[in-house]
Amino acid sequence: MSQKGDFGAVRKDIAKLLHQPEYDDGSAGPVLVRLAWHSCGTYDSETDTGGSNGAGMRYEQEGGDPANAGLQHARVFLEPVKEKHAWITYSDLWTLAGVVAIKEMGGPDIPWQGGRTDYVGETKLPPRGRLPDAAQGSDHLRFIFNRMGFSDQEIVALSGAHSLGRCHADRSGFDGPWVNNPTRFSNQYYILLLSLQWRKKKLPSGIEQFTNYDEDSETALMMLPTDMALRNDRAFLPFVELYARNKERFFADFSKVFEKLSELGIVRDADGNITNVDVEFGGYISAPKKPAEPGAPKKNTDDKVGPSEAEPLQKENSRFREKSKL
Ligand code: HEM
Repeated sequence: MSQKGDFGAVRKDIAKLLHQPEYDDGSAGPVLVRLAWHSCGTYDSETDTGGSNGAGMRYEQEGGDPANAGLQHARVFLEPVKEKHAWITYSDLWTLAGVVAIKEMGGPDIPWQGGRTDYVGETKLPPRGRLPDAAQGSDHLRFIFNRMGFSDQEIVALSGAHSLGRCHADRSGFDGPWVNNPTRFSNQYYILLLSLQWRKKKLPSGIEQFTNYDEDSETALMMLPTDMALRNDRAFLPFVELYARNKERFFADFSKVFEKLSELGIVRDADGNITNVDVEFGGYISAPKKPAEPGAPKKNTDDKVGPSEAEPLQKENSRFREKSKL
């Protein structure tokens, strides 16, 4: 247990858990970045609802949203950190984990401030349907991201996070990584989006994605329809080109836009304290830890998504490893 507010100690423990040889490409980093983004990406500027302040994915309505399929892995990875630093709120932990993971995977420093609180009930949960649908095009991207308050350039910069991780057929229905080294933060996503031949491919599930198969290395890479929209839209394209040729510019812009993402819906006073917390309770409200063991009693825990998220994941991971050996 660290001193309340010692985010430095939490950062160190997040960094330590990134190496996960049994999981995906050997790193928890990409799925932690996705967890951070999805915890923020429900923000609606018009109604000033959603966003990271609250950690709504602890509840079925948000955690069980099909758009969040797979993020239980990220939440379970972080449980030992919550156990050790019980004072931290889930909303701070999930956003900080994304920032730490990006840095550890070779990405930029992203300014991050704590102070978020966890919802104490379900009344403020955002409705489902606010996160992007990868099967759509540019109009949809603008609709989703303008609602959060992002410009065309910011949409393109944020999408560069797809240099990390992969799609999973059993989560989103899409399949495969965007780049050859998916645990290294880079501008490869833009370079490959522009330079490779992308062919539409119908997956067994009926879902369509874009695929490039390299005969020599026998590796397949993928792009989502929304990724291709960045290349095919006249207003998005110049920013894809900019970030493909200028890695430093991408890192600088990504850092700013990810910070903006993590602050959506948050109002701070001059000292950095968040002022729009749940007024009924006030203060830094941290939800109690969820159960660590499969089937642990619900008493004194906060696992509202299911009796335990951990057990089915263990099976899923071993299935993934079996598949990747083939
Ligand atoms: C532009 C709209 C976006 C769409 C439609 C989209 C869609 C998706 C989809 C379908 C997946 C695969 C999920 C799975 O099957 O496991 C994915 C993964 C991922 N996304 Fe996005 N995404 C978008 C924007 C973003 C943003 C803004 C970020 C972060 C800044 C991000 C970070 C990631 C990461 C790191 C992964 C890999 C997760 C893993 O390896 O488990 N995405 N995204």
